[in-house]
Amino acid sequence: MTSLDTRSTTTDVLRFPQGFRWGTATAAYQIEGAAEEDGRTPSIWDTFSRTPGKVRNGDTGDIAADHYHRLDEDIELMRRLGVSDYRFSVAWPRVQPTGRGPAVQRGLDFYRRMVDGLLDAGIRPVATLYHWDLPQELEDAGGWPERDTAYRFAEYAGIVADALGDRVATWTTLNEPWCSAFLGYGSGVHAPGRTSPLASLRAAHHLNLAHGLAVGALRRAVPVTAQVSLTLNLHAVRPLSPDPADVDAARRIDAVGNRVFLDPVFHGRLPEDLVRDTAAVTDWSFVEDGDLATASAPIDALGINYYSPTVVGAGSSESPSPWAGAERHVRFVPAPGPRTAMDWPVDADGLHSLLLRLRDELPRVPLIITENGAAYDDYADPSGHVKDPERITYLRAHLAAVHRAIQDGADVQGYFLWSLLDNFEWAYGYSKRFGIVHVDFATQRRTFKDSAHWYADVIARGGMQV
Ligand code: FCB
Repeated sequence: MTSLDTRSTTTDVLRFPQGFRWGTATAAYQIEGAAEEDGRTPSIWDTFSRTPGKVRNGDTGDIAADHYHRLDEDIELMRRLGVSDYRFSVAWPRVQPTGRGPAVQRGLDFYRRMVDGLLDAGIRPVATLYHWDLPQELEDAGGWPERDTAYRFAEYAGIVADALGDRVATWTTLNEPWCSAFLGYGSGVHAPGRTSPLASLRAAHHLNLAHGLAVGALRRAVPVTAQVSLTLNLHAVRPLSPDPADVDAARRIDAVGNRVFLDPVFHGRLPEDLVRDTAAVTDWSFVEDGDLATASAPIDALGINYYSPTVVGAGSSESPSPWAGAERHVRFVPAPGPRTAMDWPVDADGLHSLLLRLRDELPRVPLIITENGAAYDDYADPSGHVKDPERITYLRAHLAAVHRAIQDGADVQGYFLWSLLDNFEWAYGYSKRFGIVHVDFATQRRTFKDSAHWYADVIARGGMQV
């Protein structure tokens, strides 16, 4: 457990524990580009982004931030920032284009180069195996609602672990399986764009199974010193009032937003209330004997992605929704306060309360903030300067919340800022900028925003001036 030396906390510096991991995060489809190079085949996001009306301005990840060709330059940016760790994702369709069978060495070579380049720069590689880019052929065979996809994922995990296992510090099986299952198959706002409550619940289960199977594949291939983890976008759910009807609305969202993953992965069980709430959709008979034991294979850390809280009350919301029927009983209430360019409320208390909940519910599981950050409408002024004071304000508040949670006993071991670069923000295309490094997509020129200079200073001090 990381302990904070409170004597080192003076009134003007919030100092983080010795060894705290300072990182940035990205994802393959959002930055790599090179969509058709070196044997890569389409993923569900290539198909989805080419479907008219699905992504703003018809944007695709074909070129993105051209990271595939600018790897060395981007590692140099991170060296200048001084990060200790870099969280990236491996593109499944680059490594195993059809989602089955032997690996494409040219695809793996790109990640070998990346890992070696990071290590040479003194940066620890943190690899996510799945950040939403399912090979299209596997979707054509049924995608995550089908059980076989979980076995295909475990095979792919073994391939990547064999190739990079000796050099990656932390492995993450899945990024935000909630989004894959419920935005991909429930509300349809993410690839593959299906709108079936049943498909979303089946997908959630098969993602849990895939995670557990991949933990096994990783353990067989990587040294015992490597950390194996999962990243969830847990919802910081708050009832609008103490009224029992509002509290029950929050319970429903907690079940289908959080415990649908936490309970199988950490306790080897399905949440009973979720099974009850979804009885009109499914009897969950797709859960086979032994699946929950597989899903709950022990892991070494839990990654948390946090952006903003979710406030709910009794009522009803529109369908199709990502909530598998819960939307008929729940109304989503905009949280007060300032907002980012995503229209997401800025509320760092949500992160603090989430971390304390995990401290209490999973006391033995180390936590890592694997994503936190904000989009604003940044631009380079004529002198090339990118001022982003709101992002700095957002980051300061959230880092202070993490610091407070550590003081309160949460075992938070690192913080990964989303994102290193401006990138393809899924259904929003290039219209939303999350980077601390500005990317001019016409020239691919990279420029440190003020927030990048600020973050470099935080890292160098091991803390933040307040
Ligand atoms: C998360 C995703 C990440 C990025 C941020 C803004 O849900 O994991 O890829 O899009 O949101």
